[in-house]
Amino acid sequence: EKNGYDHFMLKEIFEQPETIEASFRGRINTKNNEIILGRLTDVMPRILEAQRIVLIACGTSWHAALIGEYLIEELARIPVEVEYASEFRYRNPVLSSNDVVLAISQSGETADTLSAVRMAKEHQAMVLGICNVVGSSMSRETDAGIYTHAGSEIGVASTKAFTAQVTVLTLLALRLARLKQTIPEERFHAIVTDLLAAPEKIRTILQSSNHIQYIANKYRDAVNALYLGRGYLFPVALEGALKLKEISYIHAEGYAAGEMKHGPIALIDNNIPVVVVAPKDRYYEKVVSNIQEVKARKGNVIAVVSMGDNRLKGMVNDVLEIPESDPIVTPLLTVIPLQLFAYYIAVLRGCDVDQPRNLAKSVTVE
Ligand code: F6R
Repeated sequence: EKNGYDHFMLKEIFEQPETIEASFRGRINTKNNEIILGRLTDVMPRILEAQRIVLIACGTSWHAALIGEYLIEELARIPVEVEYASEFRYRNPVLSSNDVVLAISQSGETADTLSAVRMAKEHQAMVLGICNVVGSSMSRETDAGIYTHAGSEIGVASTKAFTAQVTVLTLLALRLARLKQTIPEERFHAIVTDLLAAPEKIRTILQSSNHIQYIANKYRDAVNALYLGRGYLFPVALEGALKLKEISYIHAEGYAAGEMKHGPIALIDNNIPVVVVAPKDRYYEKVVSNIQEVKARKGNVIAVVSMGDNRLKGMVNDVLEIPESDPIVTPLLTVIPLQLFAYYIAVLRGCDVDQPRNLAKSVTVE
């Protein structure tokens, strides 16, 4: 069942061009780029009228939710909050029938997320779900939702479910933007076009897996690692750090790059690998300054860069290249080399990547 791959995680990483395509198949009319989210048709008026959207999730799904917040706010101009399900459910949040709660879960069985769904319903909020497992508890208990169609994910570390969640959140943000007319027509088409091109670009990234393995080998003995990104790539930095820590047991932290000077910079010495997500986007110059700050303190920088970025190549220790695309689509591209980097380090350290210690695929305890 591993299709010749050594681990389910590797198979699932390599499946992402197809699973992302499966998440948008039938949902983008390629004749006119219109987005179709059939299961949301009836509830769309209420979403458009919502005073805010609250995204709730745990772990990797929470990282997808953070990207969702940025997407929905930037494209559709609806206020969004993101909450850990385990916090939200216990803290008596302000909720009413004017709120839309959107729960995100691969398994649809995470106990804290389900409890948060039930609590939101008690407060008369409309509750939607983004879920991978068809027929799961979450899919039954929400008012409406969107399936991610990533296929069953067996590796405990979530990979293809994450990119499917981000894809679906992008579709949702685009649909809302279209209905609210919050972005210009050309911008809408440019994003849809780049989303449709993402699977092919991911294939290109996957072809560099040998190079990523070579870099992983250099840093396999690290004790700590720091991941930095800005904007849409801040949650990607968090996700890269989570992947590394959960399967390789190297302590890793993700930070918004602008926060580095407020504390984590004290960690920088000549041992620490610092993974910086730095493609050419509106934050590029700021991120370059962050890299210079790390280099000035002798940190080892591994940068995820746009293809052909010779400026950063000359400045950092190692680069992982990704094809250029609209910033809306870059989370889908930049997370791929980080998944592979974590995978290869864990394998080189002899860890059981599909069954990391102390972790379960679906967390049904509270
Ligand atoms: C990390 C991971 C976990 C899950 C979390 C939520 O790789 O897999 O952090 O993302 O337990 O699970 P779901 O999405 O099933 O609710």
